Amino acid sequence: MSTQFDACAARRVEAIYLTPDVVRQRREILDALALASGERVADLGSGPGLLAQDMLGRVGAQGSVEGVDLSADMVALAQQRCAAAANARFRTGDVARLPYEDARFDVAVCTQVYEYVEDVDAALRELHRVLRPGGRAVVVDTDWASCVWNASDAERMRRMLETWDRHCPHPQLPRTLRRRLEQAGLQVDSCGAIVLLNDRLDPDTYSHAMMGVIGAYAGKRLGADMAAAWREDLAALGARDEYFFSLNRYLFRVRRPR
Ligand SMILES: C[S@@+](CC[C@H](N)C(=O)[O-])C[C@H]1O[C@@H](n2cnc3c(N)ncnc32)[C@H](O)[C@@H]1O
Repeated sequence: MSTQFDACAARRVEAIYLTPDVVRQRREILDALALASGERVADLGSGPGLLAQDMLGRVGAQGSVEGVDLSADMVALAQQRCAAAANARFRTGDVARLPYEDARFDVAVCTQVYEYVEDVDAALRELHRVLRPGGRAVVVDTDWASCVWNASDAERMRRMLETWDRHCPHPQLPRTLRRRLEQAGLQVDSCGAIVLLNDRLDPDTYSHAMMGVIGAYAGKRLGADMAAAWREDLAALGARDEYFFSLNRYLFRVRRPR
C-alpha cells in the first residue's frame, strides 16, 4: 500500500500536515508522549519528519530521534527538515521488520501508519521488541467510520467514503487496536480521541485538503463526474454556511511491561 507515498504524495501529505488542524493534533501527541531530555525515540513511519522535528526539541542534544519509513521520498523530506540535528537519523524500512536491535528505545511513536500495514500484528510485535522493558509508546490511527460530513446527497457521500475506505487495508483499525496491542505483549495505559472538526469550509483546513485527495482517489474509481459533483456540493454547502466535517483519530498510550 505504501508505494502510494511517492514524491508527489509525500509533498501532499506534508502540506496537509501543516494545516492548523494537524498542527494541533501533533501538539496533543507531543503532550501524550511527555518526552524528557536525553530520551532515545523511534518514529515509526516518520513521514515528512514534522513530528520528529518537534520531538528533537524535547529530547535535546543528549537524546535522539530515529525515523524509519517505507517511502524513500518521505525519508528524503524528513532528512531535509531535520538536517541541522546531529542526533536525528532517518532510513528506509518497514515497521513490520524494524532495522533496530532489541530494546533500543525509551519511547516510540507511530502516527497514522499501522492502518497502512497489511500485517499490523507483526508490526506491533516489532514495536514491543524495540522498546526497552518499561519503555512507552504512543500509537494514533483513524477510524474512517467516525467521519461525519454533511452533504445534500447522502447516498453519493456514502459511496465516496466507502470507496475511500479502500485506500488502506485497515480503515477502521482503532476499534481492534487495544486487543492487538495487548496480544503483542504491550500494556495499554489509556485511549483517547483526537477530533478533527471543521464547521466552516476554509482552505487552510484538513477537510478542505481531503476534498482534493478523496475526490481524486474516488474519481478514478467512480468517475470524474461524480467526484466533481461531490466537491461542488461541499463548496455550495460552504457558501451557504452549512458545511460540517468531523473525524476521529484514536490515541493509545502503551508501555512494554518490565
Ligand atoms: C499518513 S503518513 C503519516 C506520517 C507520519 N507518521 C506523521 O504522522 O506525520 C503514513 C506514512 O506511513 C508510511 N508507511 C506506510 N506503511 C509503512 C510500513 N509498512 N513501514 C514503514 N512506513 C510505512 C508511509 O510511507 C507514510 O510516510
